[in-house]
Amino acid sequence: MKKLISSILVLMLMLALVACGGNSAGSEGSEASAEPSVITVGVVQTNANESDWRTANTKSFNEAFTEAGYETKMVFGEGDHAKQISQAQQLIQEEVDYLVVLGLQSAGWEDVAKASMEAGIPFIMADRKLELPEDLYTAMVCSDFEAEGNKAVDWLKSQAIDDCKIVVLGGDTGSSAQLGRSKAIEDGAGANGWDIVFNQNMKGWDETLAKQAVADLIASGKEFNVVYAENDNMARGACDAMDAAGITYGKDGAVTVIAFDANKWALEKVLAGEFNLDVECNPLHGPRIVKLINSLEAGETVEKNAYVDEEMFDCDTITQEIVDARTY
Ligand code: AHR
Repeated sequence: MKKLISSILVLMLMLALVACGGNSAGSEGSEASAEPSVITVGVVQTNANESDWRTANTKSFNEAFTEAGYETKMVFGEGDHAKQISQAQQLIQEEVDYLVVLGLQSAGWEDVAKASMEAGIPFIMADRKLELPEDLYTAMVCSDFEAEGNKAVDWLKSQAIDDCKIVVLGGDTGSSAQLGRSKAIEDGAGANGWDIVFNQNMKGWDETLAKQAVADLIASGKEFNVVYAENDNMARGACDAMDAAGITYGKDGAVTVIAFDANKWALEKVLAGEFNLDVECNPLHGPRIVKLINSLEAGETVEKNAYVDEEMFDCDTITQEIVDARTY
């Protein structure tokens, strides 16, 4: 009988220890509950295969977020603004910790931004500034596209080309990148008496569309001596069309070529004298957004409107060392 009572007491003691987690288990248990939860970042990206710039941009987010230990939920609008809006709404419903938006269109984001902020989810703009009042977003890390365009305009003015006849190959209509760069060249042409002989936006920043547009323009007999392409891929498309028509371009050619983005392969073309100028638009936003989120997580005050520092590269001054040092 005594044995039975003692074994029941031992069993009760063991059950009691298991219930409160015991010393090591309990401390492990309490340590387990102390594990910080994983930060989930929703990213509303534009198009997966939009341009070499976009590829570098998406890679930058994925690499930086993985290294930071974030869970990334990235979605792609694929040319459809309404789809981006619904994707953002879905990520809010999934209660991501942060919402990072790269808008196909700069307008139409008020309701989503308001919903995000009201849900306690910081709304962050990357790459392209959206048309939002400051109370509807937490912070932005973007390029100043009009400033990029103005750099190109000032450079073109310095070239003192007689009778400038400019072909403008614009990016996605309504994106802040297209709006800013197009405004710069349109204002610059007006101020300097330049003639814009062609001005069309290529859906999706498409290289093939740009090549075809320039080929058609050449076939029509329209004369031009400057190509202002709002990204590297479209500039390459224009050059392919000029090659096919036997039109010279670049440093010693008949047509001056201006491009934007400064992908490494494009800077090789600047070095070779095929592109006259390439204005940088830096895609490496991943580390910038990680720094921003870490500051917010630490309760620090962050810069509301951060514009990325960007350079420009001229065929007369670029060097192989500069090209070799480029990271995208
Ligand atoms: O928003 C940046 C622009 O989008 C880049 O200039 C272009 O290449 C990209 O697709």
